[in-house]
Amino acid sequence: MYDNISNGEWRVVTVMFAGENRKTAVWKVNPVSPDPTVIARAGQILQEGGLIAFPTETVYGLGANSFDANAVSSIYTAKGRPSRNPLIVHFVGEEMRKRLSPVWPPLAEKLAKAFWPGPLTLVLPKSPDVPDVVTGNGPTVAIREPVHPVARALILAATCPIAAPSANRSNELSPTLAGHVLRGLDGRIDVLLDGGPCAAGIESTVLDLSGERPRILRPGPLSREMLETIIGPVEISGGHLGEAHLPSPGMLLKHYSPRTPTVMVRSPEELGFDEGHLAVVTFGPIGNVPATVVVLPGDPAGYAAEIYARLHELDDGRFDRIVIVEPPDTPAWAAVRDRLKRATHRAD
Ligand code: TXA
Ligand code: MG
Repeated sequence: MYDNISNGEWRVVTVMFAGENRKTAVWKVNPVSPDPTVIARAGQILQEGGLIAFPTETVYGLGANSFDANAVSSIYTAKGRPSRNPLIVHFVGEEMRKRLSPVWPPLAEKLAKAFWPGPLTLVLPKSPDVPDVVTGNGPTVAIREPVHPVARALILAATCPIAAPSANRSNELSPTLAGHVLRGLDGRIDVLLDGGPCAAGIESTVLDLSGERPRILRPGPLSREMLETIIGPVEISGGHLGEAHLPSPGMLLKHYSPRTPTVMVRSPEELGFDEGHLAVVTFGPIGNVPATVVVLPGDPAGYAAEIYARLHELDDGRFDRIVIVEPPDTPAWAAVRDRLKRATHRAD
């Protein structure tokens, strides 16, 4: 900022306001055709070991060069994530895919034909080239080819697959807008590519193909039924396993949570309004209630696209509690219900 000093000359002075001393550069990009110069610079930063947050069709990712063990370690530091929780590696094209896993089972080929590029993550045996820090020292690697033009352009500019968890602090809500990323990671990453909202709004479906039978480790935008139409029966990880046998940290009960105490009720009739300043999240008509009411779309995809953004907003709204009205217990709502269960889990 400029300051008029006593002798009438202008000089530049640095004024630091709280929150303005960020080191994270925010670069706006067109989500359909991002500026190649901006993307090239971001790709170079990844090559040099930096961290870049970028939009995908599910949620924003926090990316590093997947072959650079130091860069990948810094993802864990930025997120405050336990290093045994493995990351998803994002790639474009068959050549890059082959560098990540030495095997390519027929089931993977069928699924890739049907759903890649898109919100499906496959767990396969890892190639020795993939550093152990990416896979939490495990023998498998989770890979996905994203469809979002910014994610694809960034991977191609970096000329390497990008390891990227969701761009939030560990255990907090995933980001579906650039502002959500800054909320948790401002000053902790080099660059945030702001490409607007993420379409799906919840994280990819994670399918383990490394065992005897295909198994969903995390439900997501592609439902079990959709996968089964392509490859036949798919198992689903039921219940919540203890940490000792955690196949996927997305299965930890406390995950994806707002900071505000958040609970779920079966129906609006169960609401108790004597407990302070409440926000209610529902998906259908609701009578006159003494609370801030957020009505989300009544279809699972529409609801998923908005839920994290609404929870981020409500979390900033100084409510005593957020109350979520439970969506129907049907297969189409499985992924949304999974995220809501985690968001409303209390450790006690
Ligand atoms: O949509 C998404 O998947 C987003 C975008 C950025 O691609 N990413 C994302 O990453 O949600 P993250 O790290 O928040 O979640 C990755 C999930 C976790 O549940 C993790 O346990 C599981 O994938 N995962 C990663 N590698 C695995 C492996 N080798 N075996 C089993 N699960 C794995
Ligand atoms: Mg995550």
